[in-house]
Amino acid sequence: MALYTSVNQLPSPKVDLNKPDLKKDREFDVEYHNDEFPYIIINDLFDEESLKLVWEELDFLCYEWKNELDKNPQSSGKWGRNITSRREMWLEAIYTNPVFSNIIRANALTFDKNPQKDKENGFLEILHKHDHWFFKKCIIMGRHFLLNYYEDRNYYLPHSDEGLMTCLHWFYKEPKSFEGGEFVFTDYDKKIELASNKMIIFPSMIKHEVTPIIMKEEDKGKKLGRWCITTFLADTDMNR
Ligand SMILES: [Fe+2]
Repeated sequence: MALYTSVNQLPSPKVDLNKPDLKKDREFDVEYHNDEFPYIIINDLFDEESLKLVWEELDFLCYEWKNELDKNPQSSGKWGRNITSRREMWLEAIYTNPVFSNIIRANALTFDKNPQKDKENGFLEILHKHDHWFFKKCIIMGRHFLLNYYEDRNYYLPHSDEGLMTCLHWFYKEPKSFEGGEFVFTDYDKKIELASNKMIIFPSMIKHEVTPIIMKEEDKGKKLGRWCITTFLADTDMNR
């Protein structure tokens, strides 16, 4: 058995391209919307195997003390405002080597045609099929994963994000144990129906919000709230 003195010495997990569980040509349930602004919805994004990986990681991270919200200037009062009360954690702050994140692995297994060569080709293909130039012509250079968890009364007031486009991938344990937590495009009064394992991709500058979630007393503190895996995509190799 090999011994490793540093996480950087660990070998990267290899993906066996001949394994039947790698969906090389997976059909996605994609909705292309082009109303006041363009956005994309992907329903039932992760398959069962990826969902299992993702839930293991979400449960592992779902503790009050695993929370970096105080580092977010939007919520810590640094800018004189407290616009969200949810929990937050950046995956790259947790993992020295991001390939050890189940969530990042699930994304790679879902979207990459050849995870050892092409980075998120499948994801870009989905974006480029939108009729609107914003998606059709987009180039993605930078990507950051931010996890969010909403427990009882947590919310996010209207705001826009930094970067080019925002992907929100929602998760909750079924049957759903909370009310509220609705996602709304504020300026258009457009509510997007919440569903577990559903992703929405939209231009980051479009203002959005999450209404407070309400949980029954007996459901609080049992990891039954509203998770969101947020991916910020940029056309430059942005650093936080
Ligand atoms: Fe946001």
